[in-house]
Amino acid sequence: MNILSPALKAKLATPLTIGSFTLESRVFQSPLSGVTDLVFRRLVRRYAPKSMMYTEMVSASELSHLQKLPQIMEIDPNEQPISIQLFDCRPDFMAQAARKALVEGTKTIDINMGCPVNKITKRGGGSSLLRQPKVAEAIVREVVEAVDIPVTVKTRIGWNDEEINILEFARRMQDAGAQMLTLHARTRAQGYHGMARWEWIKKVKQVLSIPVIANGDIFSVEAAVRCLAETGADGVMCSRGTLGYPFLVGEIDRFFQTGQILPAPTPVERLQCAKEHLQGLWEYKGERGIRQSRKHMAWYCKGFSGAAQLRDKLSRISSIEEGFQLLNLPLIAYAERGGAYKFLRFPQETAP
Ligand SMILES: Cc1cc2nc3c(=O)[nH]c(=O)nc-3n(C[C@H](O)[C@H](O)[C@H](O)COP(=O)(O)O)c2cc1C
Repeated sequence: MNILSPALKAKLATPLTIGSFTLESRVFQSPLSGVTDLVFRRLVRRYAPKSMMYTEMVSASELSHLQKLPQIMEIDPNEQPISIQLFDCRPDFMAQAARKALVEGTKTIDINMGCPVNKITKRGGGSSLLRQPKVAEAIVREVVEAVDIPVTVKTRIGWNDEEINILEFARRMQDAGAQMLTLHARTRAQGYHGMARWEWIKKVKQVLSIPVIANGDIFSVEAAVRCLAETGADGVMCSRGTLGYPFLVGEIDRFFQTGQILPAPTPVERLQCAKEHLQGLWEYKGERGIRQSRKHMAWYCKGFSGAAQLRDKLSRISSIEEGFQLLNLPLIAYAERGGAYKFLRFPQETAP
C-alpha cells in the first residue's frame, strides 16, 4: 500500500546532500548502457525535472585514446542534474577521465563497480572490483583527488553467494572518499535474475554515514515506498522499470513530493512517446539511431493487445518513416474506435 509514514514523509521533504551537492529529488534514473543517452534522458526529464540522471557507462581506457569526447558523454546544458559514470580498473586512467568529464558539466562522478559483463570484469572493471577492494579504494582516492565535485560508487552486494562482502567493501569506499553509494542488491552471479535482496541495503545503510541509494526491482511507486520503508535508504534508483516507460521516475517522484498517484499513461500516450523517442534518435544519431530504436520500440509496445505483431515489425525497421507508419496504425485504430483502450489493437489482429 502506498502510505508514507511520518518519518518517511519528513525524510522525503528534506533535500538529499551528496557531499557539496544538493538534490531536490530522491528518485534517480540509473545509468543503462545502450539506453540512457541524451534522447532517452530528455524524455525521463520531462516527467522528473529534479531527478538525477546518469550517462551510459564510459570506459576510461577508451577515453584515453580519444581526442574528442565521445557522444555518450554529451550533456545538454539544460539537463541538470546529471552525472557521468566511468568504469576501468586503473586509478590514473579514471582520474584522467574524471577531469575530462568535468568539462562536460557533470555534477558528480559515478564509478561503476557493479557491471557483471564478462568483457568488463575480465579486464578488472565493474563488479570484479568487489574482489579487489584495494584497487577499488585506490580508484576512489585518485578520482576524489582529481576533481572538486562529489565522487560516488554504484556496486552490488558481492561476487556470488559465497562472497557477499558489501558491508566491508562499502565502508572502505566511504573511507576512501566516496560521497554516496548506490547498491544494486544482487550478487554479480545473479546478473539480473532472482529478487533483489533489499535486506542488504538495510544493513549497508546501518553502517554508512554517506547516503545510500537503493537499486533493484523498483518497478512501481508501491515498490519504491516499500523499499524505502524496509531499508531506510536515502533514495531509490529505477532501472529496467524505465525501459519503454520513461514515466516511472516522474511517477515515483510525484508521489514522494506530494502523495499523489499520477494516472498511468494511456496506450496512446505511450505510443506518442515512442514516436518522439524514435524521432529523437533519428535526429541525434541518424541510421545508428534507427537501429538502436528497435529495442526501445519493442519495449514501448509491451502489454498492448496486438502488440506481439507490432513489436515484431518494429524490431526490423530501417527508417523513421517505417517506424512512424507502424506506430500510427494502432493510433489510427484507436481514434477510429472512439478511444476505448480495449480497442487498441493492431488492425490485422482485430477481432471481427
Ligand atoms: C540494459 C541494461 C544496461 C545497464 N547498464 C548499466 C550501466 O551502464 N551502468 C551501471 O551501473 N549499471 C547498468 N545496468 C544495471 C542497472 O543500472 C541496475 O543496477 C540493474 O538493472 C538493477 O535494477 P533493476 O532490477 O531495477 O533493473 C544496466 C542494466 C541493464 C538492464
